[in-house]
Amino acid sequence: MDFRLLNITPDGLSKTPCDALLIVVSGEPAEQRLDDASSRLLNDAIASGDLVAKAGRTLYVHRPAGVKAARLVFAVAADGTAKAFKAAAAAGLAQIKPLGVKHLAVAAAGTELEAAHAEALVCAVADATYAYRHTKPSAPAAAPLAKVSLLCGKSAAKALQAGLTRGQGVAAGVNLARECANRPANHCTPSFLAAEARKLGKAHGFKIEVLDRKDCEKLGMGAFLCVAQGSEEPPKFIVLRYEGAAKGEAPVVLVGKGITFDTGGISIKPSAEMDEMKFDMGGAASVLGAFRALGELRPKVNVVGLIPSCDNMPSGRAVKPGDVVTSMSGQTIEVLNTDAEGRLILCDALTYAERFKPRAVVDIATLTGACVIALGHVRTGLFTPDDALADTLLAAGGSALDPAWRMPVDDEYEEALKSNFADMGNVGGRPGGAITAAMFLKKFTGKYRWAHLDIAGTAWKSGAAKGSTGRPVGLLTHFVLSQAR
Ligand code: BES
Ligand code: MN
Ligand code: ZN
Repeated sequence: MDFRLLNITPDGLSKTPCDALLIVVSGEPAEQRLDDASSRLLNDAIASGDLVAKAGRTLYVHRPAGVKAARLVFAVAADGTAKAFKAAAAAGLAQIKPLGVKHLAVAAAGTELEAAHAEALVCAVADATYAYRHTKPSAPAAAPLAKVSLLCGKSAAKALQAGLTRGQGVAAGVNLARECANRPANHCTPSFLAAEARKLGKAHGFKIEVLDRKDCEKLGMGAFLCVAQGSEEPPKFIVLRYEGAAKGEAPVVLVGKGITFDTGGISIKPSAEMDEMKFDMGGAASVLGAFRALGELRPKVNVVGLIPSCDNMPSGRAVKPGDVVTSMSGQTIEVLNTDAEGRLILCDALTYAERFKPRAVVDIATLTGACVIALGHVRTGLFTPDDALADTLLAAGGSALDPAWRMPVDDEYEEALKSNFADMGNVGGRPGGAITAAMFLKKFTGKYRWAHLDIAGTAWKSGAAKGSTGRPVGLLTHFVLSQAR
């Protein structure tokens, strides 16, 4: 997809050479900066009641009088924010998608465009044109859209170009994350994730290392390996390194949960919707996606990605409730519920992260159903004792339109993890389940600044639109960019 800026001011709007013109409208009709032809069309559409000035409404006009483009779409935005612009653009794109539009021009009437709007547009276009086809080649191909031009005056061009570029980095990352997470678990195995990491490394010059079961045994990763032991599928511990700054500079470490299928193990899950547990590697996918964005945007920062990956299966070799394992940290864990496997594979990765002397570690995991109950499907759960890191991550989510919400991590919550047979149990009961999961992870993070993102509610959608969202690649990319010199 080719994104560019077109230096066309409102008076030239109707002469824009394109297959379709999308005009995002916000504010009062009098505030719209449109030329005569398009303003006549807009006023007429509103007067006739064909276009209601309500957020999300659209109107398609074929061969609009006085406009060079053969198709015109008005889309109404709630206000002038990038978030509203994105939602309106998405509604307009839904109208345009089934048409044979190759070159789309987008204009904002009544909004002063900023970098965030340009970035949001790229993400909306990427979302509208993504089609999963890997195991369904009969699915309709992506729309023929090849070029999107954003109309703007000269003065905003520099900022908007930066927004387009950033958007393209994020969108490439989101697409990769979606593509990985949407693949079924018989395709997306730990070995597949390792191969994807290697491919990324080749394309963008990342250093890639893949540890196998033996390597992990040598490291003493008893928690990770006890989850992996129930499956025939070989586990992989994937390490990615992006070096955008001087060698000595402390890296940001991103840790992604890579459970390629979560049956629950011996504490087996009910069968309804169990297919969705192929998305349990959404954290891993978001790390790969963030690296894809890094490869495009190349900020001056060092980043390490860690992906512990395996299946969680019941079998004659599987870990059993009550089994006690020794984590890489030396702390022992009583596995009271084999379905609380995410924290078991993450805790060894968090210990492994120490060797990088990180400036901050962020783990990303589809960790708890409790987080879905707490926050639904809108905001990712953010857990950290570090106020400054919390603010930075919340701001990254806000600017990326990939929002998170901070949850508590008071010491009192730790109580629930007490065990009579090990240093801790791996579950803390139903109350505050997302928080006690975070408290478990916290026990392995004493040596650096740390935050945990629970993406159980945001990484994928269920129902008719079932599929990966690619979240939180936007948040992670903005966070890493904010850490660059
Ligand atoms: N991958 C699941 C979490 C999950 C469940 C995400 C449903 C999205 C939807 C995780 O491994 C899990 O099974 N967690 C358990 C923890 C419990 C046993 C303490 C859960 O949330 O039920
Ligand atoms: Mn589980
Ligand atoms: Zn899981």
